[in-house]
Order: sequence, then C-alpha cells, then structure tokens
Amino acid sequence: MNAVSQESSFEAIFETQLGKLYHADCLDLLPTIPSESVDLIFADPPFNLGKEYGDKVDDNREDGEYLTWCYHWLDECIRTLIPGGSLFLYNLPKWNIPLGTYLGQSLTFRNWIAVDIKFGLPIPGRLYPSHYSLLYYTKGKPKTFNRPRVPIPVCRHCGGEIKDYGGHRDKLNPEGLNLTDVWTDIPPVRHRSTKNRQIHLVEVAQPMRQQNAWNAIGLAVRFRTVSQLYKG
Ligand SMILES: C[S@@+](CC[C@H](N)C(=O)[O-])C[C@H]1O[C@@H](n2cnc3c(N)ncnc32)[C@H](O)[C@@H]1O
Repeated sequence: MNAVSQESSFEAIFETQLGKLYHADCLDLLPTIPSESVDLIFADPPFNLGKEYGDKVDDNREDGEYLTWCYHWLDECIRTLIPGGSLFLYNLPKWNIPLGTYLGQSLTFRNWIAVDIKFGLPIPGRLYPSHYSLLYYTKGKPKTFNRPRVPIPVCRHCGGEIKDYGGHRDKLNPEGLNLTDVWTDIPPVRHRSTKNRQIHLVEVAQPMRQQNAWNAIGLAVRFRTVSQLYKG
C-alpha cells in the first residue's frame, strides 16, 4: 500500500489513514508499482461470464484471450510481490485451474480454498456449482502466516453445537477449530443489477483480517468499479 501511495503517478480517488484507492485499468496502474514492494495481493477479476461492467470492459472474450489478459496482469502482480509475499486469486474453478498452473511457474502453491457459494444457478448436464476457488500462492516461503482458530460452529436457531466430534469434544482446543480450506461464511457478492446490500468491498477479505489469518496487509488489487464501490 505504501509503495502505491508514495510512488504511483496515478491520483487516488479515495484515501484514509489505512491507504489509498485508485480507479484505473489494472494494466495501466500495476506497471507504476515498484518491483518487490507489495506484501499481499488480492484479485477478484471479471470471470468472463458476459457481465456488463461498462464500456471499457469486455467480459465475453474467447477463452484463450481471457487467459492471456489474466497472464499479463498476473505477471505484474508477481513482479510487485515482495519475497515471501502472498497472492490470492478469486475466480471460477474453470479459470483457476489454468491460472494456478501459470502462477505455479513463479510462485509457491499454498492452498486452493473452496468458498462456498449459495444461490448459484444450476448448469444443465453438470453438477450444481457450489463453490468458487480462492487460490493462495506465496513468493517463496511465506513471510507471515498465522493459522487462526475459528469459533466452534453452532446452530443459528438453538445455539447448540452442530457436531459432536465423535465423542472427543473435550479434546478440542478451547480457542476454537483450525481454519480449513473450505469457507462457508462468506456472503455472496452480487452483481449491481441484483444486489441490495450496501457493503461488499471487504467481504471476501474479511476472514483474512478478522481471523488474522494473514497478518501482512499490502496492496489489495481489487477489481472493482468505483461506481460499484460507492453505490454498493
Ligand atoms: C467479478 S467483479 C469483482 C466484483 C467485486 N470484487 C465486488 O466485490 O463487487 C470484476 C470487476 O473488475 C473490474 N474490471 C474489469 N476489467 C478491469 C481492468 N482492466 N482493470 C481493473 N478493473 C477491471 C470490473 O469493473 C468489475 O468491477
């Protein structure tokens, strides 16, 4: 975040003590960021599903063209990460398979996190898609990694614990369970035509912060239009 705020030639459109927000094409902005200056990157790009994101965005490309576009900005992400820095890439499993293979040529694979999504649409002839992929890579050995504990799940109606842990409940760590690579507590981010809640910006990143999973906060490359940001 400091690297961008101090040295980018772009003008921030929003600023707090925590950092600056830029509204720009990622392929214009990223090259202005110094190499090996970013602790953490979180990318939530368009999924090439033909959605409407304004005139400047083509979300309906040929598969190869979409992947080539992703490789270009991923190259910039890889360049800007510090040694030990983390990159998170949120996308459909269909895209994260080739994109993960590409990242694996330069970075170290850490996790494929399945982010449970509800209310997805059934696809004819396929299993019902019920997760998005959140890939987690680091540039070499992670600089910071804290494995957090999460609260023991309880029923939202009666408050009782959902599992019995095979009779070994007393052996559980009182601080909570280990965070797994299946996340079920992330609310869906809706397209602006259907969404009706106000705040979405940090929803996917929330577990990282609240549960202190990754202590290093750097540049969040957030693929998001400003109008969406302000309108919710
Ligand atoms: C899947 S959406 C991300 C939604 C967002 N994470 C949210 O929480 O609402 C992809 C976003 O990437 C933006 N985008 C598309 N092409 C871009 C580019 N070349 N540079 C920066 N952002 C881009 C789109 O405008 C859109 O807001």
